Amino acid sequence: MSRLGHLFEGPHRSCAVVGVQWGDEGKGKIADILADSADVVARWQGGPNAGHTVCFDGGEYVTHHLPVGVFHAETTNVIGCGCVVDLEALVEEIESLGPAKQGSIVIDPNATVITPWHRLIDAGHDEDEEGEDIVGTTNRGIGPTYASRASRVALRVGDLMRDDAGLMLERLFDWCVSRARADDMTLDPDAFVPPSDVLRHLRGALDELKDHDVRIEPGAPILEASLRTDVADRVLFEGAQGTMLGLRAGNYPYVTSSTPTAAGIAAGCNISPGRVDRTIGVMKAYTTRVGGSDEAFLCGRAMDDYVAEQIRDIGGEYGATTGRPRKVGWLDGPALRYAARVNGFDGVVVTKVDVLAELGRQTDVEHVDFLDDYRSNDAGEEPICTFEPTLDAEALTPGSTRSSPIWTEEVRTMRRRDRAPEPLRAFLDFVAEQMETDVAAVSVGPDREAIAT
Ligand code: GDP
Ligand code: IMO
Ligand code: MG
Repeated sequence: MSRLGHLFEGPHRSCAVVGVQWGDEGKGKIADILADSADVVARWQGGPNAGHTVCFDGGEYVTHHLPVGVFHAETTNVIGCGCVVDLEALVEEIESLGPAKQGSIVIDPNATVITPWHRLIDAGHDEDEEGEDIVGTTNRGIGPTYASRASRVALRVGDLMRDDAGLMLERLFDWCVSRARADDMTLDPDAFVPPSDVLRHLRGALDELKDHDVRIEPGAPILEASLRTDVADRVLFEGAQGTMLGLRAGNYPYVTSSTPTAAGIAAGCNISPGRVDRTIGVMKAYTTRVGGSDEAFLCGRAMDDYVAEQIRDIGGEYGATTGRPRKVGWLDGPALRYAARVNGFDGVVVTKVDVLAELGRQTDVEHVDFLDDYRSNDAGEEPICTFEPTLDAEALTPGSTRSSPIWTEEVRTMRRRDRAPEPLRAFLDFVAEQMETDVAAVSVGPDREAIAT
């Protein structure tokens, strides 16, 4: 049983890991620890935009499509129907893991296929009138693929086996070309390869995946069979991205195109919402985000540039998928309270508290701040204590902050929370109080072992 195996105890045989903030909270690391106690691990949304880092036995591995259960033998890993899949990239992803890949892999035939055209539109689309990057997507084709699915022209993985797959791809090609034209993109024929070539490549990738023992099979029956009372297997749902990047929950338009909140699990796995017993939020002890507007990242505006640079350096805050530097801010109270509300967490895991310890040791920073509210520029308006998706974050300013003393003791070897230095303990109590839930565990380093419960 893993250090977090107790989260599956009692009536709780399924558990979900959800990103609380803007992604990269350390979900991969926490899901990997939980996966040690799970029989099935399923992803319900996203695709190669995710980058989940897992460190063990001196190695560092990054997954994009794959649930982190692949690092555990005897685990079935489901890429659910709510995911978008770049089949060629998935072949590379599996091969990059080498013998570290242990568990078996299933792709739901109802998951949506990312084509090279979707990637091109994604790369060409993301600019405003001044040519400025708006959302700063990962350029993996995520938004255009979900858009084509919503427009009912996308291909599902299972469609690639159909006799009329060529015709379906031609229709998708026309849709992508019209999107590209609408965005004034130059249609380079070398890049906009014809449907027949794309079909050949996609079918080739499917064959390669089958050579790697990947099965194409509906995920729901696997999950439902595991959760039957007479079977009593354990299921872990692994979220990608984070609440504030949710298409509807997040600070639109600086969001991804799927539902990373707990509400998305049932739809993205095609199961009943009642199948999810417990929801655990994963949050960093500070905030980061990649892409999006600087103005809308209010907790970043509340942090001194020097402190942000130090945390970026110490915490290695560069994207696991794109290598881009992440924006850094203090904890964002309105966003945390909101995430707690929309997900209904049964507990949170706080990660990277060791980074703040190092900040305390290496610099003269003496306090950890917490952005308590946002303010409107109109004098006299009430402070905003909870985020709402329709807020015009760019028109707001960071409001009041609260400070608590930073901790400087070495915490990376800490395995029990009751051994935490007093300032860290007070910080965790404060987080629990703000989010009205328990802190289930504290992550004290990148390695699988570095967890205090
Ligand atoms: P994810 O997308 O939520 O899975 O997170 P990422 O893998 O993109 O980013 C988290 C980064 O922080 C990775 O490099 C992890 O190895 C690292 N990490 C996770 N937890 C901790 C922790 O508690 N302390 C430190 N120092 N690093 C951590
Ligand atoms: P994990 O699972 C952090 C961000 C992008 C961009 C916006 C939309 O590793 O936490 P997209 O390519 O999805 O259309 O980009 O969302 N983004 C992430 N940021 N972690 C992620 O995933 C992300 N996936 C997407 O930077 O601002
Ligand atoms: Mg990541």
